[in-house]
Amino acid sequence: MKYIHLIISALLILLSFSFSFGQNIIISIETENLVTVLKTDGNNRLKIVYFGKSLSNVNEYARTEEVFNFHTGGASSNNNAYAVAGIDNNFTEPAIAVVHVDGNNSLDLLYENHTTSESSDGAILTTVTLKDPVYPFFVDLCYKAWKDKDVIEQWSVIRHTEKGDVMLNKYASANLYLNNKNYFLTSYNGDWAKEMQPVETHLRQGMHTIESRLGTREHLLTSPNFMLSLDEKATETSGVVMMGQLAWNGNFSLQFETDVFKNLHIVAGINPYQSAYQLKANTPFETPHFVYTVSFEGKGKGSRNLQDWLKKHTLLDGEGVRLTLLNNWEATYFDFDQDKLVGLFGGAKELGVDMFLLDDGWFANKYPRNNDRAGLGDWEVNKKKLADGIPFLVREAEKAGVKFGIWIEPEMVNPKSELYEKHPDWVIREEKRPEIYFRNQLVLDLSNPEVQDFVFGVVDHLFTENPTLAFIKWDCNAPVFNGHSKYLERKKLPQSHLYVEYSKGLQSVLERVRAKYPTVPIMLCSGGGGRSDYNLLKYFTEFWLSDNTDPLERVFMQWNYSYFYPAIAMCAHVTDWSKDRSLKYRIDVASMGKLGFDIRANELNERDKTFARQTVKNYDNFKDIVWHGEMYRLASPYENDMASLMYVNEGKSEAVMFNYLTNWRYLSEASLRPVKLQGLDKNSTYRLTEINLYDGTRSPIDSQKLYSGEFLMNVGFNPTVNSGRASVVIKIEAVK
Ligand code: DGJ
Repeated sequence: MKYIHLIISALLILLSFSFSFGQNIIISIETENLVTVLKTDGNNRLKIVYFGKSLSNVNEYARTEEVFNFHTGGASSNNNAYAVAGIDNNFTEPAIAVVHVDGNNSLDLLYENHTTSESSDGAILTTVTLKDPVYPFFVDLCYKAWKDKDVIEQWSVIRHTEKGDVMLNKYASANLYLNNKNYFLTSYNGDWAKEMQPVETHLRQGMHTIESRLGTREHLLTSPNFMLSLDEKATETSGVVMMGQLAWNGNFSLQFETDVFKNLHIVAGINPYQSAYQLKANTPFETPHFVYTVSFEGKGKGSRNLQDWLKKHTLLDGEGVRLTLLNNWEATYFDFDQDKLVGLFGGAKELGVDMFLLDDGWFANKYPRNNDRAGLGDWEVNKKKLADGIPFLVREAEKAGVKFGIWIEPEMVNPKSELYEKHPDWVIREEKRPEIYFRNQLVLDLSNPEVQDFVFGVVDHLFTENPTLAFIKWDCNAPVFNGHSKYLERKKLPQSHLYVEYSKGLQSVLERVRAKYPTVPIMLCSGGGGRSDYNLLKYFTEFWLSDNTDPLERVFMQWNYSYFYPAIAMCAHVTDWSKDRSLKYRIDVASMGKLGFDIRANELNERDKTFARQTVKNYDNFKDIVWHGEMYRLASPYENDMASLMYVNEGKSEAVMFNYLTNWRYLSEASLRPVKLQGLDKNSTYRLTEINLYDGTRSPIDSQKLYSGEFLMNVGFNPTVNSGRASVVIKIEAVK
């Protein structure tokens, strides 16, 4: 097996998707539908000569340049494969800017060589090495192409052998160049409880940047996700659209620069803000991956490409199973003790969920964690609240028939804590200036290996003490303010390394956690949805989208997240945030993701209890389709008075459809028209049955009637959503 792999790789390298015409090298990075063609010019500079639909005759890639005119009005064209700063190309934003050891701040990068091989996980990896003709300074441009998913991961590796340190002022992951007529960019802004709010911008001449400078909790105000319609605005099922994100748990910058000729130059990477990086000789710097897909069949296909790639190749245990849960955060906040918690375990069991999750407030003694002003950092159990410790709770939960999980926020510290008193030098703070708090707390300095050990120790201790601990919720509530590291100061390293070293420090803690505890599910949470990058999702099984669990707002929010993430990764809980919507509506919305509850289950009346229990059973029945199937967005709440989505299993034999009223106006248009289904087999016959109904409720949907897949996808089906039926869940099954 091993040898076959080596032979294939060797053949790929020999045959590689490259050929040279005269002096010019041509390299094509191809997936099923997308190609980037790179070509060297007469000066041996590498140019992007085509980015678009792939061609069946690869020989024709050499000719793509003939039909474009890469105008600039200057010495060099704008379509560089990796734009440099400091030589003749001052027309476009650089992807890289450096200061050499001798103080010279110019850089030129010429093609040296390239290799193509199959990576161990089945993608095609092309690495193109560029070199400065004057300095021993190199950049490897890396392209990992996932053929069947039309997903590209693009990054760079920067290295040198100069005699001393080279200062990297900018060091992007990727540089792209597009020649379309129009670009409609959707970016996502937000704040606490308002995450993932889309804004569409028609890009005109000039620069549009999507960026974060928050250090940790980097998605709080801006998400690193983007969607770019090319030429025309894409719909769910038509149009050309590029979708992706920078996979980085730190400051990011995605620059979209449109020139006067309407060509679009994209530079994506770590945000250079306060982050000049001093690079030692022979110490390669690998940038984060810029991940994107291009769909030629609209946004729906683009989402499925990314979701599939995540499930199969990135998200931890993306093809596995998840635990449904009851969380105590909104049920108790900080106000609990041992007896109260044990009392809630039975409610979890009765509801039928797999696990009880203990949230914030269980730790610290000198400065007890009774509110968010104290205790963070002191990870010993609070003896007053929990006299018998966590092992007792784990045992009691298991006795009640549910697993036990726990909340931590190990990267942070309250100034009112023993940790802060003992180790003020572990805290990111500018000694000469007043401390700036966010939720009364500060960030620990993860550039410091001792702090990394401490953070790893928090997790390790919990698992050592509680070997059957089933789940962790890893929170992170403060961004970095007044960024200064005592550790970097002691090591005589520039303070401008802090943001990068923090992000890498966190990653190395997570590597250690996963080396020792490879499978235990861990939720990525960040004061709501402040973190959901594809880099961290390598270590996490799921993430928390937002503290906003108002079900109506969640319909919109989950809709927006669904462009970039699969349902199995998206934690959705039923809470009492908004009682304006029925329990049914709340459960139906949460059932579109990874279902959880954050309510006082024991206070539900009998009717609601029975109903909730039944919906958990139903979820257990269809969760496999939601977690592992393909998702189709059918009716947008932005364009209709309702939202409609469906998930279809691989064999197209089972599906589940979710429909929600989103506008309670007197004359809602929700039930006027049928919704066209997608993803079914047109030749199969299907039965549609409404589920998640209260006992004794009659559905207007007659499950005796059968429909062909062709009918459902072309004529459609009317789920009859109205104010009396504000949410409708339908199970769809092929009949033999
Ligand atoms: C912020 C999280 O988003 C909440 O779910 C909860 O865990 C609190 N932190 C606890 O402090």
